[in-house]
Amino acid sequence: MAHKAKIATVFGGTGFLGKQVVHRLAARGVTVKIATRVPERANFLKTCGAVGQIVPVQCDYSDARSIHQAVKGSDFVVNCVGILFERRKRARFEYLHVDLPAIIAKACADEGVSRFTHVSALGCDTGISKYAQTKYDGENAVRANFPDAIILRPSVMFGQGDNFFNKFAELSRFMPFLPLIGGGKTRFQPVYVGDVAEVVSKGLFVGSSEFLGQTYQLGGPDIVTFRGIYEKLFKYTARPKKLISVPFRIAKLKAAFLKFWPNPILTPDQVDDLKTDNVVDDKAQGIDVFEIHPKSMDLILPGYLETYKFGGRFAVEQSA
Ligand SMILES: NC(=O)c1ccc[n+]([C@@H]2O[C@H](COP(=O)([O-])OP(=O)(O)OC[C@H]3O[C@@H](n4cnc5c(N)ncnc54)[C@H](OP(=O)(O)O)[C@@H]3O)[C@@H](O)[C@H]2O)c1
Repeated sequence: MAHKAKIATVFGGTGFLGKQVVHRLAARGVTVKIATRVPERANFLKTCGAVGQIVPVQCDYSDARSIHQAVKGSDFVVNCVGILFERRKRARFEYLHVDLPAIIAKACADEGVSRFTHVSALGCDTGISKYAQTKYDGENAVRANFPDAIILRPSVMFGQGDNFFNKFAELSRFMPFLPLIGGGKTRFQPVYVGDVAEVVSKGLFVGSSEFLGQTYQLGGPDIVTFRGIYEKLFKYTARPKKLISVPFRIAKLKAAFLKFWPNPILTPDQVDDLKTDNVVDDKAQGIDVFEIHPKSMDLILPGYLETYKFGGRFAVEQSA
């Protein structure tokens, strides 16, 4: 007898991580429902599966019935929805990081979903920013409604289209200097987005129940300071810039103005986020549990940061 294809609902499947998750699930033959506010934005993902395998479904995140509808009939659910900064009414940390995951988790329990993976953030248990604290509250809300959820806490994720290296690379195009917030000493353990997507996929598929109800901290092979991040950036964009140390206090003051930009480069909450290191705890369960060897920044960054070089991607060949 033929096996029935599994069905998964991915919330935030149009996002940076979500689309990688959709790709991996599609490759495993899963029928993927992408629950999104704007289904048209998910159409580009249809080509990563067979005809009819990837199905964008409209979801109103403020309506529990709409969320239940998106979850109904699925074997697996993944929640990749998250924001970096708030917008007065449209995007609140408390709602999107705490209430929404709770509603999704409850829908998973009510609809008999077998596995639910929720994406949180590394350092959420120690961070002092509202982003971190709401991520932590969101984990607890998920556990209360779906105790077997697999919770993932990635460090900052890098890869084509990221909002981290690309943001600084973009700034370095026109800024004569770049700010070293808090002296640039904050430590990160950046992890490749494709490796995190692979963790999501394995967590849903591996037959045994060893991953259920666990929380994993996901970091890459390298620990770097904020200054070290800039050094990598300059190496692969070949656009070295002067670095100016900006104390947290001053950065927060500037961010209080910058936060009004449509897509702010820095908010006061992000300054708070930089006050604590973002590295995997020695005692935590990590990416190795999934038998994944995380890819290094040096392997992945050149593939997309070289487009920021003077003359673009082919500048090296021309000058060689
Ligand atoms: N990127 C990182 O470095 C990083 C690091 C640690 C943890 N995380 C966490 O990992 C998850 C995935 O991150 P990501 O970088 O892939 O996120 P993303 O691309 O910025 O956004 C993911 C999804 O969130 C939804 N979303 C975005 N803004 C929204 C808003 N204002 N209101 C309602 N929904 C909104 C969108 O879904 P639709 O438009 O399809 O509705 C989007 O596809 C998030 O929970 C994030 O907090 C990310």
